[in-house]
Amino acid sequence: MCGIVGAVAQRDVAEILVEGLRRLEYRGYDSAGVAIVDDKQNLTRIRRLGKVQELSDAIDEQHVVGGTGIAHTRWATHGEPSEINAHPHISGDISVVHNGIIENHEALREVLKARGYEFVSQTDTEVIAHLVEWELRSASSLREAVQSAAAQLEGAYGTVIFDRKDPTRLVVARSGSPIVIGFGVGENFLASDQLALLNVTRRFMYLEEGDVAEMTRREVKVFDSQGQAVEREVIESNAEHDAGDKGQYRHFMQKEIFEQPTALKGTMEGRITHNSVITESIGVNAVEILSKVEHVQIIACGTSYNSGMAARYWFEDIAGVSCDVEIASEFRYRNFVTRPNSLLITLSQSGETADTLAALRIAKQRGYMAAMTICNVSGSSLVRESDIAFMTRAGTEIGVASTKAFTTQLAAMLMLVTAIGKEQGRVSSEKEAEIVEAIHALPVQIESALAFDKQIEALAEDFADKHHTLFLGRGEYYPIAMEAALKLKEISYIHAEAYAAGELKHGPLALIDADMPVVVIAPNNDLLEKLKSNVEEVRARGGLLYVFADEQAGFEEDDTMKIIPMPHVSEITAPIFYTVPMQLLSYHVALIKGTDVDQPRNLAKAVTVE
Ligand code: M6R
Repeated sequence: MCGIVGAVAQRDVAEILVEGLRRLEYRGYDSAGVAIVDDKQNLTRIRRLGKVQELSDAIDEQHVVGGTGIAHTRWATHGEPSEINAHPHISGDISVVHNGIIENHEALREVLKARGYEFVSQTDTEVIAHLVEWELRSASSLREAVQSAAAQLEGAYGTVIFDRKDPTRLVVARSGSPIVIGFGVGENFLASDQLALLNVTRRFMYLEEGDVAEMTRREVKVFDSQGQAVEREVIESNAEHDAGDKGQYRHFMQKEIFEQPTALKGTMEGRITHNSVITESIGVNAVEILSKVEHVQIIACGTSYNSGMAARYWFEDIAGVSCDVEIASEFRYRNFVTRPNSLLITLSQSGETADTLAALRIAKQRGYMAAMTICNVSGSSLVRESDIAFMTRAGTEIGVASTKAFTTQLAAMLMLVTAIGKEQGRVSSEKEAEIVEAIHALPVQIESALAFDKQIEALAEDFADKHHTLFLGRGEYYPIAMEAALKLKEISYIHAEAYAAGELKHGPLALIDADMPVVVIAPNNDLLEKLKSNVEEVRARGGLLYVFADEQAGFEEDDTMKIIPMPHVSEITAPIFYTVPMQLLSYHVALIKGTDVDQPRNLAKAVTVE
């Protein structure tokens, strides 16, 4: 986690760095800092506890000049959030910012202490500063010193370093955490995410694992892990420039919830005709691979894991292909068995989640027929390291609570499942046409779900003073309930759990009382009557029920049960549809509670550390 920005320019860079940090704040927001040097080797370091705004105010108070600088917004791993632990860290003339974790920092700390270095923070980053300072004493250049230091570091990191005495040069090293270089005219930039730099450039180059780059105003030289000079591809970005703006919305999360109809149109564009899925549009060799798939292994974390859990029902029901879904942090550490002709799918909004990336790297050695990622960020590590990248094209997601990434992942998987079924002769052209019709209807369907905003806002009052909430669903609505519970706890800090409704009687029923709202997701499907029995089990024990029910489902409202009648939608896409009122519910509960909706406590958007 943590966000890094760097710049080498003729002009003063303080404003560029701060704007970049603002756009990266989703990566961490407990403290922030900059170090800027001018041509006369005058160094200014400013650090503040709290959000980037605190830093920005402090910079405004002083007139900070200098054309070379590095900046950082932090998500604490080693050492509490504090000004002392905030980056940049300094050793002699060396300034450093760092994203990731240095696993052998304790051993290095002892070595460096023995050499006479004093540590002032509890961070692992400070060892990089001292190590580079030490190596520079015998190296012929800062780059050489960084390369020697990097060879001693274990862990996953991205780090940027400058030497006050050489004030027009930055050196950056990538090992496990993303770094993108941005090219300007007579000035160059770098960041953890291109989003940070879209206001200054559109030309980008991603560093690869083990790369070290040296950057001046005029040139960028890249060296691979062997120290050989290499060329990396330069791309022209078409990412939205204003993705970092909330527009008319109060929060990014709200904006992103309301963007879902457009996001879904992006996901389906060029991938479906009026009645069929274009298998080739899924990726290179998709027809060949999908026609042979016998098993699917999905790996993901958080919201992406929940979408995999929901899609599992489709893989088995529609495509007739067995499917396992596992949390990446578990998968990566267990001895798993690879099934024959198994397709590995990683799901991720960011494409940088450390556990998912590590799981992919391990799995790639273990005989999967291909590795596909369903991802939202082009150029991300998962995209670059997978055989097939099926992009969700949801547009930049900034709110820490993932919303449009979830629904677009589901839409992408519905297309994938249909393509597999079709290529294997299990989905007839009639069935394919029915699914595709439902996919086409999604944007309008989601608009109709968004129209419940006001009604759900009123309902949210009932939840805001509660300490716990239970979400119930059956079949593919169980993972939708899991996602609803994750959203509520994440942004409102209310403890929430999801249960497969049939499981209630095996324990959780004991929790039911008048202080525990129970939210039920009740589409009109084959399991409706079973679900109704579960609802009665709650009612009989004095539970407080909120049932989001298909208008034809036949629920009747009374004192103990509020019914929110939802329009009848296609059973195929209904899991996506029912997600939206759940997102709105958590958003409005969080608003009433006054929490930090876009940047909830203790969390960060891209979890690039283990
Ligand atoms: O970028 P990813 O989809 O790989 O991220 C996975 C999780 O960290 C993420 O979904 C997290 O659970 C969200 N904050 C949930 O809203």
